[in-house]
Amino acid sequence: MDGLDSLRSTWLEKIAGAADEATLEEFRVAAVGKKGEISLKMRELGKMSPEERQVAGPALNALKNEVNAALAAKKAALGDAALDERLRAEWLDVTLPSRPRRQGTIHPVSQVTEEVTAIFADMGFTVAEGPQVETDFYNFDALNIPGHHPARAEMDTFYMHRKEGDNRPPHVLRTHTSPVQIRHMEAHGAPCRVIAPGRVYRADYDQTHTPMFHQVEGMAIDTDISMANLKWVLEEFFTAFFGTKVRTRFRASHFPFTEPSAEVDIQCSFEGGTVKVGEGDGWLEVLGSGMMHPKVLQAGGIDPDVYQGFAFGMGIDRIAMLKYGVPDLRAMFESDLRWLKHYGFGALEAPAVHSGV
Ligand code: DAH
Repeated sequence: MDGLDSLRSTWLEKIAGAADEATLEEFRVAAVGKKGEISLKMRELGKMSPEERQVAGPALNALKNEVNAALAAKKAALGDAALDERLRAEWLDVTLPSRPRRQGTIHPVSQVTEEVTAIFADMGFTVAEGPQVETDFYNFDALNIPGHHPARAEMDTFYMHRKEGDNRPPHVLRTHTSPVQIRHMEAHGAPCRVIAPGRVYRADYDQTHTPMFHQVEGMAIDTDISMANLKWVLEEFFTAFFGTKVRTRFRASHFPFTEPSAEVDIQCSFEGGTVKVGEGDGWLEVLGSGMMHPKVLQAGGIDPDVYQGFAFGMGIDRIAMLKYGVPDLRAMFESDLRWLKHYGFGALEAPAVHSGV
């Protein structure tokens, strides 16, 4: 059969030069596809004499096999090349340092709440919680603050809106954490030792007041609790919290829910415009406290002839500012990222009593 040699060299050359798999596929169709050049040649076998066919048949078959083998080999080579190219292009240096990611920080109030909790937990106090939207009964009446009492007005209370004609007793945003005392006594009775940290609300705004701030309430009830226990617990707390021996000063005061009542100052110096706790002969007021009023114990379902308790309420933000040198309370709650980055804590700086909190 004529022309087989040139057919052979043409196709083998084309296949060898194919630049990619798509071109190679075109060549395959054109050579050995149904209507390919070699396939058409094979159809011609039918018109040949048996003698001619005996020569041309094997020769054509051999050509077809050779072309198919060349196609397969080239296809494999092109595949390898494509893979090599991908490997080169997608090369990655896994030893490079990763891109920096913005990380949040723990807010000083959260950090200090954890610190306070750790220290009181070490003295056997558990944590109690109550709602931030309170009834005026828990926020005032049960704490021996009757309706006409000036403390209600003094606290700049936020009242929840009521529809006209809705005569239910009002709800308030709790003005202090003291209502948790009542809720805890009702639920768990005596004896008990708890702290109740959380948000409280008063309509007030200046350098040392924000409408929302944080308090921690403390309460210990038993059959032989006295002011001496209160003083020991508080001095123990401040010494652990500030990491230095802190003296306290109890000043006689008045709260409706305690009798006797005391405001507590901690020792500090004010030299050079900075406050240093635990030294000097200055004093700074940090909390209110006292022996729980018999009416408050009663409101919580506890017999005041059998049990006594001490209680205190302390500003968390206040002691956070003192310990970490925050000058303005308002900045605490403005969500300024630069402020948060500066005063915030890393996630792994977990407070514990023995890690020098
Ligand atoms: N509830 C008071 C306030 O917010 C603080 C306080 C004073 C709490 C005396 C007490 C206490 O438990 O005994 O101003």
